[in-house]
Amino acid sequence: MGLKQELTEKLERHGQGHLLQFWDDLDDERRKFLATEIASIDFGQLDRLIVEHVRGDDAAAAGEIQPVQVDPIEVVRMPQTDAERAARRRATEAGEEALSAGEVGIVIVAGGSGTRLGYNGPKGTFPIGPVSSASLFQIHAEKVVALGRRHGKQPPLYVMTSPENHATTVKFFEDHDRFGLDHVRFFLQGQMPAVDRETGKILLAAPDRLAMSPDGHGGTLKALAAPGEEGCLPSCLDEMGGRGVRTLFYFQVDNPMVEIADPTFIGLHRQADAEMSFKVIEKLTPEEKVGVVVTVDGKPQVIEYSDLPKALAEKRSEEGQLAYWAGSIAIHVLECSFIERLIGVHRLPYHRAIKKVSYLDPAGQVVKPAEPNAVKFEQFIFDALPESSRYVIVETDRAVEFEPLKNAVGPDSPATVHQRMSDLFGGWLEQAGAVVPRRPDGTVPFAIEISPLFALDAHELKSKIDPGLVVERPIYLR
Ligand code: UTP
Repeated sequence: MGLKQELTEKLERHGQGHLLQFWDDLDDERRKFLATEIASIDFGQLDRLIVEHVRGDDAAAAGEIQPVQVDPIEVVRMPQTDAERAARRRATEAGEEALSAGEVGIVIVAGGSGTRLGYNGPKGTFPIGPVSSASLFQIHAEKVVALGRRHGKQPPLYVMTSPENHATTVKFFEDHDRFGLDHVRFFLQGQMPAVDRETGKILLAAPDRLAMSPDGHGGTLKALAAPGEEGCLPSCLDEMGGRGVRTLFYFQVDNPMVEIADPTFIGLHRQADAEMSFKVIEKLTPEEKVGVVVTVDGKPQVIEYSDLPKALAEKRSEEGQLAYWAGSIAIHVLECSFIERLIGVHRLPYHRAIKKVSYLDPAGQVVKPAEPNAVKFEQFIFDALPESSRYVIVETDRAVEFEPLKNAVGPDSPATVHQRMSDLFGGWLEQAGAVVPRRPDGTVPFAIEISPLFALDAHELKSKIDPGLVVERPIYLR
């Protein structure tokens, strides 16, 4: 049987025969390329996803849960008493020991498309330093280098990319001499086809190419376990094992405020013998777009903001605090052994995302839709939580650790990130004895930046500046 016939039979069985509509116009090489893309798809799985997420009823498709019993989850809150502060110090020491022993690896997920930001390049290359214009990648990398200096061992860094931004990301690091990192490895995440939201048909990006998109940050787990490039390298997990790394600190590229490998968080996770742990912030309004960590029928779980029933989102305690306040900020600690166990037995569910995806119409013309026309399928890392046998949920302060770059303007945009970084660094300078002007609303009136190579935290800064320093204009300490 010829290749075309073989593919036709396979595709027709799944209602996707249109993928070969330009076959006769393609040369051999492009036919081979298309055949390889088609071969990479698990059509049985895709059929199920289309039934569930494209043809299913809206509530089921949106993943809305029909909870039997949803309860707030137990959270390690900010320490208030001396005893709690002492317990934190012990946790910090445990985390520091793990870092000094070289048992901690760092994973940045940077495979997303960054469509809302609309920046021409991988989001990690975006110049976000409020004074220096240092990229997100540079700021993260400098933190890793500084951690190495502090703990005597630099944690190895693993950067997840996707086929659409892999080469540019690797080149960016090479062009900057890998920012002084001892060990950085890039690993590719998987892809899923985007389908038409009305018909479930896979969209074509070109006559020989399907409209593929990254399979979500949940794809990190299987990507860490997959063999390296062209099967020549060990998987990242195997490599980590060989280096003595047991525990991973995971975060997303778009948050420059993240306290990478925070020893207290790592220590709390380890003291509890946890498999997966979460940092959370207090959700301020029922509408705030963060997923909340709860228990469902006694099991820990994250409910996405779009799936949280309104009555639960608005429920308050007697003191007036939101009952479901523990907002996940996508900062995790995971045991390598947990990922290995999970990969063997469990597949994270796929969620649907309705997005604008350009495609070829039957006449071969590129259509750029004005409205969302496609369903993308994505796995979310937090869906691993219910599978963990032990976990710790730790509260942090959003002003200190969370301001992701998502949009070009408005909330979570370069302007808000600059302001929040400057406010944080202004606070560090004040703690070190400097005088920093403040607007009536408490924000600082100009850009302030401190390179992680100069100081990783307020405590370190204290030993480096004159206590009488008066800050009168933009300042970058490096
Ligand atoms: P977001 O869900 O905010 O997506 O990803 P995004 O790609 O950055 O931006 P939009 O939605 O297209 O505007 C949160 C984090 O997860 C990573 C992103 O790189 C970002 O760090 N991510 C997301 C992946 O690594 N892979 C994915 O498939 C999706």
